[in-house]
Amino acid sequence: MINFIPFQDHYITFHIREHNLIKDEIIQLIERENGKSVNESSDYIVTKQDYENSFNFEREYVQLLLPVIKNYIQRAFNEYMFLSNCTITNIWYHIYSKNDTYGWHIHDSVNWTGIYYLKLPKHAPKTDIKSLVKKNKVFTPKVKEGDVVLFPAHLHHRSKHLNTDEQKISIVFNLVNK
Ligand SMILES: [Fe+2]
Repeated sequence: MINFIPFQDHYITFHIREHNLIKDEIIQLIERENGKSVNESSDYIVTKQDYENSFNFEREYVQLLLPVIKNYIQRAFNEYMFLSNCTITNIWYHIYSKNDTYGWHIHDSVNWTGIYYLKLPKHAPKTDIKSLVKKNKVFTPKVKEGDVVLFPAHLHHRSKHLNTDEQKISIVFNLVNK
């Protein structure tokens, strides 16, 4: 018999101290940015997103955000995860309006996923992450607007239906260890 010993679920959160300084400008730049709405199924409805352009690092909001966020991520990897280096492979935004949702999914072919909560109304649902080792266990990192959550990209996660009239905007990015 093989004795499988599950490892603990693993995610970290941190706050972007510059959030209040950059939030409005990033929102303005995102609103000017090309994007597409998604209405693929009852499980995937998003008002606007630019995933198709996520490898383009020339977008203005990406240029503004990257230098800020890279600093935090590098420190998180060096000091907390004990990995010397990581690279952001792609980055995109999601604008959720009332009743929008993104059901359970994973991110293929990358090591880590990060979510920056650029606009998070007070009662809006946070990201749910499914445990890898405990069936049906879901954990919801305690985050507020301006926070980032980093977690392994192979963990199933979702954004439940938005229940507020105010929009929720998240900026999502993938990372590889290198
Ligand atoms: Fe995702």
